[in-house]
Amino acid sequence: MTQPPVDTRFEHPLARLTLRRYPRLRNETLRAWDGADLYLLDEYSNLGAAASGAPLVLNDQCGALALSLRAASRPEQDGGDVYSSGDSWLARAALQANARDNEMDLPDDRWRWPLEAWPETPSVVLIRVPKQMALLEAQLSRLGSMAPGTPVLLAWMDKHLPGGLVDRVRHYLGPLTLLRGRHKAHGLRAEVPAHPVPKASYPTRVAVREQDWSLTVHAGVFAQQQLDIGARLFMASVPRGVTGPIADLGCGNGVIGMTAAQRNPGVPVTFCDESWLAVESARDNMQRYLPEETAHFHLGNGLSGLAEGPERFALILLNPPFHRGHAVDDRVARMLFRQAAQRLLPGGVLQVIGNRHLRYDSILQRHFAQVRQIGGDSRFVILAASDPKPV
Ligand SMILES: C[S@@+](CC[C@H](N)C(=O)[O-])C[C@H]1O[C@@H](n2cnc3c(N)ncnc32)[C@H](O)[C@@H]1O
Repeated sequence: MTQPPVDTRFEHPLARLTLRRYPRLRNETLRAWDGADLYLLDEYSNLGAAASGAPLVLNDQCGALALSLRAASRPEQDGGDVYSSGDSWLARAALQANARDNEMDLPDDRWRWPLEAWPETPSVVLIRVPKQMALLEAQLSRLGSMAPGTPVLLAWMDKHLPGGLVDRVRHYLGPLTLLRGRHKAHGLRAEVPAHPVPKASYPTRVAVREQDWSLTVHAGVFAQQQLDIGARLFMASVPRGVTGPIADLGCGNGVIGMTAAQRNPGVPVTFCDESWLAVESARDNMQRYLPEETAHFHLGNGLSGLAEGPERFALILLNPPFHRGHAVDDRVARMLFRQAAQRLLPGGVLQVIGNRHLRYDSILQRHFAQVRQIGGDSRFVILAASDPKPV
């Protein structure tokens, strides 16, 4: 059944914008904003005069927040500035593309990746509660460097309320006010306390017994506390004797690409992820355990726009995501399969692990003439796809 085109007209008293997700998919089914964005903008408006100066936005999904604030900015009070910080390359790409579509100028240096410096005196901090509580905690723990009394607004969709959220926020910021729900969202207001804000214990360390590695896993990166069981099974299937470049697509902490680098000395490995903190985790782990091997790091949408290192690969290893945000969705996996089919060297192989019920074999057969099962257990299958079909 074909779905009606998704609504792209965003309307709020602060701004009317056209907003789309990134990458721009044909038949997109997800809107580029939700009630939590409207909620935060309402609460920002309610702050009134208290909100003079440049706001800082955390975890904007596609620019609804930063672009609305920018549209409503009053240069005499806030210099027309809005700062935005988040972990997702795709969210940043959506923000930039939507800024262009709405003919708005958003200077590059107003964007800050998670470990980069934030402005020290924002007028207000607007936080969309991210899916990963660890990322939120790491962000809250950094607010202590700001002026006491700086207002902090948080909002989340009711259906995505993370367990223990209010207690965790109280742990970092102290007293807070829970606000009334609307737009199927809720929020709270707090402020930067005068007392020191507790430190969050990130990055975590994840033990990989097989290799005697203790991996750095930055806040919110996949498999925060222990190695993923699928990743453990996938590691065992990483081949030796590969003679051309290797890619670890959706690298997370880098454990799969590191295993490939260790088993294939002298072969360059490219680590790719759309999460900045995932790429930083993989970089840190490679430097710590395999500094002699050649590694490249690519922050972006899968293999698209590779800027350094090889452009084609003898082996691509992929433990794909099966969510987009909170929604279970195999579109990302399908897109990564398509990209991989175009990036293999002659004779190259895409090796994929997935839950049996996801039936990646039938999706892979659309892009590859050969798809065989090379491993697995009762829950997972490991597939090797080769001989890409012409597009
Ligand atoms: C299931 S995890 C696998 C992580 C790691 N390879 C492992 O096995 O532990 C999937 C990874 O894909 C990344 N990812 C999601 N969408 C992506 C995209 N469009 N491009 C690149 N990476 C993406 C996620 O950030 C996540 O780190």
